[in-house]
Amino acid sequence: MRDLLPTHRPALVLAPMQDVTDLPFMRLMARYGGPDLYVTEFIRVTQDSKLDATILKSITENDTGKPVLAQMIGQDIPALIRIAKQLETHPIAGIDLNLGCPAPVVCRKDAGGGLLRQPERVDTILSALRQNIQGRFTVKCRVGFADKSEFPRLLEVFLKHDLQMLTIHGRTVRDAYKTPVHPECVATAVQAMPCPVIANGNVVDVPTGLAYLKHTQAAGLMLGRGAIRHPWLFEQLRAHWEGGETRTFTKRDMLDYIHALYDVTAAFHPRFEGRLHVQKMKRYMVFITTGIAEGALEHRIRRVTNEEEFWAACHEHLDNIDPLPLRPPADSHVFCGFAELK
Ligand SMILES: Cc1cc2nc3c(=O)[nH]c(=O)nc-3n(C[C@H](O)[C@H](O)[C@H](O)COP(=O)(O)O)c2cc1C
Repeated sequence: MRDLLPTHRPALVLAPMQDVTDLPFMRLMARYGGPDLYVTEFIRVTQDSKLDATILKSITENDTGKPVLAQMIGQDIPALIRIAKQLETHPIAGIDLNLGCPAPVVCRKDAGGGLLRQPERVDTILSALRQNIQGRFTVKCRVGFADKSEFPRLLEVFLKHDLQMLTIHGRTVRDAYKTPVHPECVATAVQAMPCPVIANGNVVDVPTGLAYLKHTQAAGLMLGRGAIRHPWLFEQLRAHWEGGETRTFTKRDMLDYIHALYDVTAAFHPRFEGRLHVQKMKRYMVFITTGIAEGALEHRIRRVTNEEEFWAACHEHLDNIDPLPLRPPADSHVFCGFAELK
């Protein structure tokens, strides 16, 4: 993976996010400066599963100029191998295995984060996949299922399998999104692993990103919800390292971003329906509205039901040149514990 990542500064990766990081979202991020590497939303792999045609587009039609990893989630070894082989016929940077998803429906089936309860099984799955994947093979994990004390054992397993990159969301599955991250686990992995280790979780602005790197010495950062909230974050971090221009942002910049997001995601949908699209926009707006007008915009957006109400709320709060708050509020319920990254 080192050959695909910058050597003169930490790498920037867009976090895979189901129903968010599809092709139009990737393209939009690229317009705002974007990451060095993308990862598809997870591709569910079961005995009879087929490649999801929409997710596949973020590989076959990826015109961002940057590579994309294909992420799989599942625990059925023959099925994982079958899908990995299919994915390798497409222009991917490699295959990533999801070992972090905390959704109960996923964990109950011993997939995603659920697998972290069984390090021996992870060992067997990684071994089988490593033998059958021709190209790069990477893992995205959390630091344990119930407790971070599980992490050293997981690390022993990861060390055995010639991974090309390890991304760590620095929380346990049980932590969900409700705690600060545990940078010390990421730091241990950086020391132990021969491949690049990427730190993930709660990077919301340049200072939180720099603090995560300072505590971990990770090879890069993966940004998820922070990038939805502030798409300029990639550009700002790059400018910090490369000495480029930094600028201040206004609420109208945010309004323009929401318009762009609305348009690109609407154009991608096979059948546009305003009311439904407003519901889709609400999923992004949870992150975007954090900290704007002391929660008033978030409150308003939660209640809108159609396009007129949606745009009236956005324009009322954002059609001005007031500075955009760079950080969420310290007690944000969406970005829990981010202020601990300092
Ligand atoms: C809406 C949503 C969908 C997600 N879907 C995925 C996914 O498909 N695969 C995955 O590995 N992680 C997924 N995640 C987890 C993120 O990739 C990331 O690890 C997590 O949000 C923490 O990083 P952040 O604080 O930068 O957002 C998802 C997170 C969110 C909020």
